[in-house]
Formats: sequence, C-alpha cells, structure tokens
Amino acid sequence: MINIFDPASDIDLGTPARESEVQVSLSIDGREISVPSGTSVMRAAALLGTTIPKLCATDSLEPFGSCRMCLVEIEGMRGYPASCTTPVTEGMVVRTQTSRLAGLRRNVMELYISDHPLDCLTCSANGNCELQTVAGQVGLREVRYGYEGDNHLAEAKDVSNPYFDYDPSKCIVCNRCVRACEETQGTFALTITGRGFDSRVAAAGGDNFLDSECVSCGACVQACPTATLMEKSVVEIGQPERSVITTCAYCGVGCSFRAEMKGDQLVRMVPDKNGQANHGHSCVKGRFAWGYATHPDRITKPMIRKHISDPWQEVSWDEAVNYAASEFRRIQLKYGRDSIGGITSSRCTNEETYLVQKLVRTAFGNNNVDTCARVCHSPTGYGLKQTLGESAGTQTFDSVMLADVILVMGANPTDAHPVFGSQLKRRLRQGARLIVIDPRRIDLVDSPHARAELHLQLRPGTNVAMLNALAHVIVTEGLVNQSFVDERCEATDFARWRDFVSLPENAPEVLGPVCGVPAEQIRAAARLYATGGNAAIYYGLGVTEHSQGSTSVMGIANLAMATGNIGREGVGVNPLRGQNNVQGSCDMGSFPHELPGYRHVSNEAVRAQFEQAWNVTLQPDPGLRIPNMFEAALDGSFKALYCQGEDIAQSDPNTQHVTAALSALECVVVQDIFLNETAKFAHVFLPGSSFLEKDGTFTNAERRISRVRKVMEPLAGKADWEATIALSEALGYKMDYKNPSEIMDEIARLTPTFTRVSYAELDRHGSLQWPCNDDAPDGTPIMHIEAFVRGKGRFMLTGYVPTEEKVNNRYPLLLTTGRILSQYNVGAQTRRTENVAWHEEDRLEIHPTDAENRGIVDGDWVGIGSRAGQTVLRAKVTERVAPGVVYTTFHFPESGANVITTDNSDWATNCPEYKVTAVEIVRVSQPSEWQKRYQAFSDEQSRLLRERRHAEKAEVRR
Ligand code: SF4
Ligand code: SF4
Ligand code: SF4
Ligand code: FES
Repeated sequence: MINIFDPASDIDLGTPARESEVQVSLSIDGREISVPSGTSVMRAAALLGTTIPKLCATDSLEPFGSCRMCLVEIEGMRGYPASCTTPVTEGMVVRTQTSRLAGLRRNVMELYISDHPLDCLTCSANGNCELQTVAGQVGLREVRYGYEGDNHLAEAKDVSNPYFDYDPSKCIVCNRCVRACEETQGTFALTITGRGFDSRVAAAGGDNFLDSECVSCGACVQACPTATLMEKSVVEIGQPERSVITTCAYCGVGCSFRAEMKGDQLVRMVPDKNGQANHGHSCVKGRFAWGYATHPDRITKPMIRKHISDPWQEVSWDEAVNYAASEFRRIQLKYGRDSIGGITSSRCTNEETYLVQKLVRTAFGNNNVDTCARVCHSPTGYGLKQTLGESAGTQTFDSVMLADVILVMGANPTDAHPVFGSQLKRRLRQGARLIVIDPRRIDLVDSPHARAELHLQLRPGTNVAMLNALAHVIVTEGLVNQSFVDERCEATDFARWRDFVSLPENAPEVLGPVCGVPAEQIRAAARLYATGGNAAIYYGLGVTEHSQGSTSVMGIANLAMATGNIGREGVGVNPLRGQNNVQGSCDMGSFPHELPGYRHVSNEAVRAQFEQAWNVTLQPDPGLRIPNMFEAALDGSFKALYCQGEDIAQSDPNTQHVTAALSALECVVVQDIFLNETAKFAHVFLPGSSFLEKDGTFTNAERRISRVRKVMEPLAGKADWEATIALSEALGYKMDYKNPSEIMDEIARLTPTFTRVSYAELDRHGSLQWPCNDDAPDGTPIMHIEAFVRGKGRFMLTGYVPTEEKVNNRYPLLLTTGRILSQYNVGAQTRRTENVAWHEEDRLEIHPTDAENRGIVDGDWVGIGSRAGQTVLRAKVTERVAPGVVYTTFHFPESGANVITTDNSDWATNCPEYKVTAVEIVRVSQPSEWQKRYQAFSDEQSRLLRERRHAEKAEVRR
C-alpha cells in the first residue's frame, strides 16, 4: 500500500504564507533568514525550524493574538510582542527562547490548565492535542492555582451533530473554530458569547450544533487545538495510526484527503492541506459521509437470476462473469452485434471508465457506449469544443481569487460544489462583485458578508434569451474587447455573431419580458461583466440541462471571447462538473462517437492507432446514446446492457420510459456497491468497490488528474477494473493489466493530452491538469493563453428557440430541479449516512402566492403532475423561488422527481431538459399511483434480495 503521507509537509507554520516581491532579512536566535514582506515572526521562526509555542495560531487562519503563548523578545521593541501578529521588519533581531519568556509562557499555560479537565490519558485527543504538546514544550510541572475555583469543567457536551461533539469543558477559547468558520468556510455560524471568564463558543441560529446554521464542513473541528471539537469516529475508535492521501469520490471539486487509518479501519477523512483543489478544506460529504462504504446494504457477492421476478442466486465471480458473457454472446448471435451496449460511470476511476469503453469497442465490437455525462455536461463538451476547441473548463479553481467580477449561472456552488463555493465567497469578501443568473435565490445571492450585486431571476428555459440580451448590450454599447477579438478570433464568425446579437429582437427590452427580468438589470449585468475587470463565468447544470443546453454553453463562450475574458488567471469559462469523475469519464472516450481524448470514431487515422494498440477492427460509425438505447430497447433491437456505477433508473428523465426500456431487455448487468434502482431490473449483479478499495485517478472540473489510493481491500474481492477485465476475458478479449498504473500508461500512449501522465508523475506533482504532454510537461492550469486550442476562437450563432415544454392552463407552473449540500445525486451513498439528519426527504419548494392560491401550507403533501407523470412530495413554502416556479431535489428514489421530467432534450447532445417541466400542483392525501407501484416493486425486489440472503445463511449453517 502506498503511503505518501509526509509529516514534514504537514507542519503548521503558525500563520499563512504571504506573497511579496520584497524579501525581508532578520535574525532569530542568532540565525539569519529572509522571508517575503508581511510574514509573521512566528512563521519566519518556523521556517528556520524553531518552534515557538502557540495555541490560537495556525497557518490556515489569519493570526488573532489572543493566547499570549507565542511571546518573543525583539530588540528595540518594548515588552514581549506576540510573534504570530508581529510582522518581520528588515534587520529585526528576535529571541524566542529566554528564561523570562519561558516563565511567562509557563504562567499562561498554568492558567489554561487550571480550568481544563485533567483527563489526558482518557481524552480522545491524547497524543494529538496541541494543548498537551504546548504544556510539554513550556515545561509545565505544577498548577499553583489549584482546580477549586470557578471553572467550566462541568459544562455539558453538545453531541447533537452526527459527526462531531462539542465539549465546552475543554475549550480554551482560542477562537480558531470561529475564524475557521468565517475565513475557511464562510458560513459565520460560530461566535464567542460572553466576556472574560464567561466567554464561550456558540453556534448561531439554534440551541445546538445540529439546529444551528452550521453546515458541518468540519473546518472548526480541524482547527480546534484541543478535544473540544472532536470527530465522533475518533472518540469511538481512537487516534489514527497512519494515513493515505486519496481523492474525494463525491463532487467535481476533487478534494484531496488524508484517509486516516487504524489497522484496516478508516478512522476519519481529513482534508489535505497540500490538496491543490481544496487547500485543506472540505464539505460535510467528503469529510464525514463515508460510512456508506461499509454499510450493511453493501452487496459483496456476485449474483445472477434468469428473470427479474426470480430471487437472486449468489455465485462465484467466475460463474457471474461467464453467465453475463454467455448472455451477451447469445443475444448478439440472435439479434446482431449492435444489440448490446455499455454505460460507463462518472463515479469510477479514469482507468475503470477507460476499460469499460474499451470492452464495448473491442469485446462487444460496437460503439454503443455512453456515460452519465450524457445527462449533465454533454452540452459543455459540445459547446466548448465548437467555440474554443476543447471540451473542458479553462481555469483552475484558484483562478477565482483573481476575478473582479464573478458571474454564476445555473449553478449553486455552496450546495453542489461546496469547497469551491467557500473559495468563491472568500473572493467576494475581498471585494469581487457577483452576478447570479438563476431562477432560484441560491445561498450566494445573500450570504453572510457576501451578496450578489445583481440577481437575474430568470424564468426556467430562457437562458439563451438572457445570453443573447447580455451579448446585445455588450455589442451595441461598444463594450467588445475588439483587439482581443481581432487577434484571437475568426473574423467572419465574429461579424456574423455581432450582426445577429445586435438585432433589435435581441435587445433586453424585448428579451427581458421573455426571461421575466427587467431590461435594466440585464443591461447592468452586461456592463458589469464587460467592464468590471477580470470577469469569470461559472455555470452548472442549470445551463446544460435544457433543450438548448449546447446553445447556452456556446453563448457563454461567446461572451467570454467578446470581452477578452479568457486565456489568463481570473477569467474564463468554468463548467462546474457534478460528479467526481464526470470530466474523466468524458476524457476517457465514454461517448459513442468519440475515442479517448475526444477524437471522433469516424477519423480513420485515430481508429488505426487504437486498432493497432487493441488488435481489433473498430466501427467507424457512432453507436447509441443512452436515450437511443432506451428507444431501441422498446423497439426490440437493443437487448442487453452492461451498466457500471450508474443508476439510470433513478437519474434519467421520464422514469416510466426508462423502466419500461429496462424491463424490455433480456440481460441487464449492473456493477454497483448497492442494489440500486437499476439493479432491481438486473439479471447479473457484479459487486462494485468503493473509492477506498481501489487505486486509480479521478479528473475534477479543473481537468486536474488526482490519485485515488486504496486504503482497504475490496470487500467483494475485486476492484471494478478487475471485474471489467474478467468480463472482457470471459467474452474472449484478453486485457492484460497487472494494476491501474499500467492502464494509465496505455491511456497516456493513446491520448495526446495525456502523454506525460503517469502515476510516478502524479506522485511527484501531487496532481496534474491536462493537457499534460511534451508541450506542457507540468500540465496546463489555464487554457487558451496565447491561442485557442482550435486556433482562432469561433463565435457561434445562438438563436433562441423556446422549449416545447410550455405552461398552459393545465400545467401552469414550471418545475426546475437541483441538489442540496448534504445529499449527493441519486443519494445512494449519502442516504446511507448520517447526512439524512439534514435532509431526509425531497421537498417541493413553492412560492407563498402559488401555495396560497392552491390552499397549500408548509408541510402539506402535494401532488405534482406533468405531461410525463405524477408524484407526491411535501411542500416547502418559500420565497427562494419566484411565483410560477417550483423546485425540488432528486436524491430519494421514492420522490420520483424524474417521473415528472420529460423526454425533451438538448438538440445537439440529447442531454435531458431536467430544468424545465410544466406542472400543476394540488394538495393530496396519498401517494401517486406511480409511487404505489414503485413501492410494491421495490418491496418485492427487497424480498428477492432477502431470500438470497436467507439462502446464504442456511447454506452456511448446513
Ligand atoms: S472550541 Fe476549540 S477552537 Fe474553538 S475556541 Fe474552543 S478550543 Fe478553540
Ligand atoms: S462545521 Fe463548518 S460550518 Fe459548522 S461551525 Fe464548524 S466551520 Fe462552521
Ligand atoms: S466539495 Fe466535493 S470533492 Fe470536496 S469534500 Fe465536498 S463533495 Fe468532496
Ligand atoms: S499563538 Fe500568538 S497569541 Fe496565540
């Protein structure tokens, strides 16, 4: 097992690094050092290897100067300044260790310890407590004041948060937690109440942590130098013994974590200070919601059955893959080569995804492979390729720290990409200006110390109209960066676009009413974006999941090119990718028309390269997309599916259509860690492995390739990549890899943007952003710097075509969907964690006016009917949504959010139009007919699974 945890890289230097071109030289205990101007004396000393005792300082937070433990003597300065708050000056002479300082520090420590429980040996932080360490450093031997006076030792613990406890009896009121919540997380949930002796930490907005405004990111727990804020898992299991650096398997931020272990047991996930996407921060999901990995619902034995009405039979791996292979071959013989296909997973590693598409193209012999990116960011791939020449975001996350204007469109970073959301809020607190374009009042619109200057609360389905109106203002008000356009973009395409957006029909005064946004707001947003300095666009599924998703992406790229906001830090076009490896699954050739590296299957030279490497003949025509697979299944021409780590029955639109298609298949092979909704229609179940059980890489929304490292053996005996290899071999196509590193080496050989990527290079750099090749051996943080990948940037026409999904008397409201912080996508993982404490069901948000018109009050059960189906949820009456718009999340299968969504999809990529569904809402008293059918089917499938389990127990007894 690789353990690259290097304690030296994790040393706390006391205060944050400062950047300055001016170097300052000083002497500390007789040793000379030069550091950037603005550096603290404490940090300069730490860089020399000199430890100054500290309690309230830590290098992830601005210095506070409250504990008085870090006093030093400085020649020419009176008294004993705190080294954490004193910046270095040229020629300064500092002494950190004198007998006078030692006495002062011991006195301070004595006071702390006199009001601290003396239970070090039984304390959960024993061995990893800064108070304990500093007491040792200062040589504390006695506490002269005794322990009898007023103290806080009897204060009650707050154990309300499911993941960490707050034990005020151990609090030294160092304020680190409060500052972490403010500076790192940006939630401002904590405060110090009272003064002097009565000072206590309190969580605002509730009586305890759980009920407060806390979002359980863990930053305060990380910052706390004592056992006051402590992970419950550490309390229960004890301090970890070793750690392995790996990457979060939830969202597209791709946070780096230290998986801290005791033996083979995971004790906690600690955000990695050296993580290049997260810099030591995390959200509740990656930090705490990992318990699903060992949940009793995990299925760890392969299973097969003839019909989906049969009980599952547990079989060996060999039997399962041989059965699956024989079914695939039987079906191909009977119905033809193209009657089967596969779906790759954006949850799995690059290496695993690569293998699944390779299996489809080699062993299946067709191009019927698609991925869940189909239903989220496929328009990003298409739109950015057309305009900029590369199907990926242009920046690093850190680039936002140089943005002056931030435009967030159809994205909700604080819920869906929380660590980036915190970074974005930090930049706003530094003064960047924010424009939000979203039908819903997301948290960013008005959060503590960060608010949007403009919130264009447009009607769902009008993104293209909005983008055209913004472009109209930029062009007609002379705000185009003409020199950038002349130098970097295709002149003819620009002229055509300019003439198009200048048309009076694209004026805000015309399109504003279409969008439901005042023209003046649109004009103000366009002016701010075009003239406010570095302007960066961040967008999400609220842009892509529309019938004109690709058009919107092109519209966004057009705006960036027209204003010259591309090709340097602080600007750019940034798709916020949803799943941990959705970027990677696209890069790895998961689409039916593209081989790895986004190269079209019709390109003979490209095909020849892969044919030679894979020793097969590849098909030159694109295969079936996921929606085409469903149609073909219902037509009877598509008969079998291999689906790895993707729950199409829950996540794809128009559930009844999807389940009808799945029911029509003769063989469904599902590889997953749980019996998910799709697996209920499966004939073969191959147990999957969690991210903790395998090696590989994920690629985040910044194109950052990061290592995933195995911290425990696969519960099912095989990692996902090994299962795919076994299936391929059973089909007669040998895949010869001893480990995922060899798979990456093949990817690098065959993919021009990956040629310098290898595990050794990833270990050396920490992570690498592709393109990473001979032109960019250290990777490419910012794209399109001197020229666009396609040469010249291409402005694309973006005519607004209203969606066919229209409101009428029968369906007068528009439903749009999104995510919530504590749950993740289809919820298969987070529903099996304590995160349900924050969100145990999907709710329907409805504006008070619409609710009142229908006699609905908060908490009522409401029926939601669309042209596709009906479901029932509980109502949440809120002004977050505008009148005429309702909103829900889709994390629970029984909610049936996708029973409502329709088959409409993006014209270019078939990405479903999840974000616009015309509905009517009524008060009801019972579940919908679909929900009753779903419940009965689910109960039956659970029974069939239980029977398998009973059989297993009986067999063991015999
Ligand atoms: S809870 Fe921890 S970090 Fe917060 S003030 Fe108390 S000791 Fe300091
Ligand atoms: S867990 Fe995060 S949000 Fe909650 S109080 Fe701590 S820092 Fe603030
Ligand atoms: S922000 Fe995303 S990648 Fe980071 S910890 Fe949270 S879920 Fe994981
Ligand atoms: S560490 Fe400097 S005052 Fe606390």
